[in-house]
Amino acid sequence: MEAPLPGLSLLLLLLAAGWGGGMDAAWAPSPGGCELVQSIMDCTGRQLSSVPGNLRGDTEELLLDDNTIRALGNASLLLYPRLWHLSVARNGLELIEPGAFLSSPGLQVLSLTDNLLFTKYSLTAAALSALPALRTLDLAGNQLTEDMVSVLVSNLSSLESLSVARNIIMRLDSYTFTNLTQLLELNLEKNYIFEIDQAFEGLQRLQRLNIAYNYLPCLVGFDLTQLRVLNASNNIIEWFLTLESDDPFELEVLDLSHNRLLFFPVLPRHSKLHSLLLQDNRMSFYQRLPNGTSLANVTVQFLIIQGNTTNITTVRLWDDLCYSNLSSLRLLDMSQNQVWGLPEDFLAQMPSLTQLKLNQNCLEVFELSEEDSLGMLTELDLSQNELVELGVKGGVGDFLPSLQLFNLSTNRLRALPPGIFTRTRNITTVDLSRNRVDLCPQPGEAEHLSCVDIRGVGTLTHLSLAGCGLQGLGGRPFQGTSLMHLDLSDNRQALSGDLAWLQDLVLTLQVLSLRNTSLSSATVDFSALSSLVRLDLSRNSLAAFPASLGALRLRSLDLRDNCLRALPPDVARAPLGTSLRELYLSRNPYNCCTLGWWDTLQRAEGLRVPDGREVTCSHGSHTLSPNALPEPVLQSCRWQTADLALLYLVLALPTCLTLLVAFVVVFLMLKEKLLKMVKTRCGVSSPY
Ligand SMILES: *[C@@H]1O[C@H](CO)[C@@H](O)[C@H](O)[C@H]1NC(C)=O
Ligand SMILES: *[C@@H]1O[C@H](CO)[C@@H](O)[C@H](O)[C@H]1NC(C)=O
Ligand SMILES: *[C@@H]1O[C@H](CO)[C@@H](O)[C@H](O)[C@H]1NC(C)=O
Ligand SMILES: *[C@@H]1O[C@H](CO)[C@@H](O)[C@H](O)[C@H]1NC(C)=O
Ligand SMILES: *[C@@H]1O[C@H](CO)[C@@H](O)[C@H](O)[C@H]1NC(C)=O
Ligand SMILES: *[C@@H]1O[C@H](CO)[C@@H](O)[C@H](O)[C@H]1NC(C)=O
Ligand SMILES: *[C@@H]1O[C@H](CO)[C@@H](O)[C@H](O)[C@H]1NC(C)=O
Ligand SMILES: *[C@@H]1O[C@H](CO)[C@@H](O)[C@H](O)[C@H]1NC(C)=O
Ligand SMILES: *[C@@H]1O[C@H](CO)[C@@H](O)[C@H](O)[C@H]1NC(C)=O
Ligand SMILES: *[C@@H]1O[C@H](CO)[C@@H](O)[C@H](O)[C@H]1NC(C)=O
Ligand SMILES: *[C@@H]1O[C@H](CO)[C@@H](O)[C@H](O)[C@H]1NC(C)=O
Ligand SMILES: *[C@@H]1O[C@H](CO)[C@@H](O)[C@H](O)[C@H]1NC(C)=O
Repeated sequence: MEAPLPGLSLLLLLLAAGWGGGMDAAWAPSPGGCELVQSIMDCTGRQLSSVPGNLRGDTEELLLDDNTIRALGNASLLLYPRLWHLSVARNGLELIEPGAFLSSPGLQVLSLTDNLLFTKYSLTAAALSALPALRTLDLAGNQLTEDMVSVLVSNLSSLESLSVARNIIMRLDSYTFTNLTQLLELNLEKNYIFEIDQAFEGLQRLQRLNIAYNYLPCLVGFDLTQLRVLNASNNIIEWFLTLESDDPFELEVLDLSHNRLLFFPVLPRHSKLHSLLLQDNRMSFYQRLPNGTSLANVTVQFLIIQGNTTNITTVRLWDDLCYSNLSSLRLLDMSQNQVWGLPEDFLAQMPSLTQLKLNQNCLEVFELSEEDSLGMLTELDLSQNELVELGVKGGVGDFLPSLQLFNLSTNRLRALPPGIFTRTRNITTVDLSRNRVDLCPQPGEAEHLSCVDIRGVGTLTHLSLAGCGLQGLGGRPFQGTSLMHLDLSDNRQALSGDLAWLQDLVLTLQVLSLRNTSLSSATVDFSALSSLVRLDLSRNSLAAFPASLGALRLRSLDLRDNCLRALPPDVARAPLGTSLRELYLSRNPYNCCTLGWWDTLQRAEGLRVPDGREVTCSHGSHTLSPNALPEPVLQSCRWQTADLALLYLVLALPTCLTLLVAFVVVFLMLKEKLLKMVKTRCGVSSPY
């Protein structure tokens, strides 16, 4: 019964392949509980304690991850001579017997991550050395020391990619990687490396080196000319010094972020560096100090102790900075440092820069000049500094002609140079949030008052003025723009009166945030904003749903943190109801007894209430979930609402009865008198 199965699965596979080509779920059951997914035999997580012996003999790729295979014996892979990719990750693997790979000479990719290979590493090393074609080896997470690694890889001269991340390597020296002459990529991330001594000398082809998350205190004498990517982030590096040399370096990406650099790194003079990542260090430039003194000729002396000899290297920081040819640099990230000013001509050396991040520093003044020739710059982030002034030096021509995103958020700016955005020809996004700026024109005041003028900036589509302390907008501040996204949140005095100042945006505005703007009137008229798709009205004091919203075709509406007691019962009706996809509703004091709208929303197709679990309603002093109202509350609501008429009737009934009884009593009491009266009257006319 077993025999036809492989044929069948092959047939299924062929069928599936014939169908789609792009179908990646083409699988068929296979003996041993494994699945053949395209050409990969997947035995992941099958509680296997050994390599199954009943797979197809022509298996080329075999995944055995998440099983309990403690050892790969000599015979384990005998049946699969065509294997070129094997993965045995997370198995508690302790040993690979020396003969285990003798039958798999074609193995090229081997992953052994997260096992216990430290236990019998010398036997495992012998097994690995029988792999003449091995190109990629992953030994991450095996508690290996540098000596074990050195033995394990000593004969793998064909290796191109090696990962020994997440082990317990502490230092590297020239013996560690001797024979890996073909290595292109080496990952040493997350070890305990505090010292590297000529460890990479033999690796003539190495292009990518990752030593992130170690304990390196400095990188001095960097001389790996062939290296293209060096990732040394998350160490404790205070110095980065390149060996003084005129040799061309291939370096393209240098990541030194999250270290303790005190100075700008001393880079190779000639390199192809396009990304320099220096985020989160302690860098500053000391060329000019805040009090006006100059340290232009400052030199730093390095005491390099090697064995019993001491070598003093003197570096002139600014000269070395200037000697580096940074003409290919495209991304410079110096965020989260202590930069308060840039050296003169610093940016002028980087004509190819497209992205400059100087956010989270202590800049007080930032001067842009036409000579900086930042003609390619598209993104400039100066947010979270202490900027009080943005200077623009030189003529009236274009500057920053490619700039698209300018982030000035969280500074102390009150104004910007007049006309700044009309000269940046390509600007689309400006973030001015959390500054003390006003928009021009100021209502009822002269034009020359300090304000930010965005009128006529036709390219601008995204503008944030959140938390700017805007004081009531008036006039036509957005004239000549075609803003699509506008953030006015956290301006408690911005919206007084009508929204007429939005008149220039009615056709273009798609996303509007009015969070925390003291909006209380439901009569605010949004109906003109016909393109609006996303509106944030959270954190206001709306007591009723603004009726004008019903005419919009919003996709997302945020009404959190208001004073709404109910939504209109017809909220799910067109056009709003049919276009709306996302409605945020929590933190409003809804009335538990008028939840008809809530039931309507639950039934509305395609509409999500992402914060639905947090929506509550109140009943008396209780806060309840509208989906699980207890029976007594429901009854009490029924009393209150649906059967109100009955209630009145019931309330009125005793009164009516009392009145009726009283009337009868009175009637009875008076009856005799009446009779008498009648009698008397009649008596008068009686003929007796
Ligand atoms: C496995 O094979 C190696 C090399 O062929 C041999 O030295 C070793 O004794 C074998 N181990 C076992 C348990 O057969
Ligand atoms: C590496 O190869 C040499 C000779 O081929 C051999 O003597 C040595 O034992 C091998 N090393 C390991 C760790 O297998
Ligand atoms: C390097 O490889 C050669 C031959 O492949 C071997 O003899 C030598 O022992 C290896 N070196 C080390 C340090 O393992
Ligand atoms: C450097 O390594 C860290 C940690 O793995 C990673 O987060 C970061 O993206 C890497 N940097 C680059 C430039 O790839
Ligand atoms: C300027 O600052 C430096 C370093 O903080 C200090 O050594 C120097 O005395 C200061 N000079 C003046 C004139 O305040
Ligand atoms: C720096 O050195 C140059 C000559 O090398 C000299 O002209 C200049 O005055 C020096 N500046 C300071 C501040 O010492
Ligand atoms: C210093 O090192 C050299 C070789 O590097 C050695 O010959 C010499 O004896 C050492 N001197 C001392 C004092 O250790
Ligand atoms: C000291 O440094 C210089 C220049 O960096 C170098 O030429 C020289 O070989 C070094 N000497 C020693 C003993 O390392
Ligand atoms: C910097 O390098 C570029 C080519 O990579 C070259 O065109 C330019 O002249 C160099 N600049 C300097 C100042 O050496
Ligand atoms: C500007 O920077 C702030 C904080 O640095 C960030 O929160 C905001 O998203 C940025 N704005 C844009 C448009 O990227
Ligand atoms: C302006 O930006 C667009 C993309 O938004 C780009 O295609 C165009 O080349 C840019 N123009 C300039 C002068 O950089
Ligand atoms: C609302 O905005 C004001 C500034 O106008 C700010 O101080 C306050 O923290 C904001 N409130 C909330 C809840 O974000």
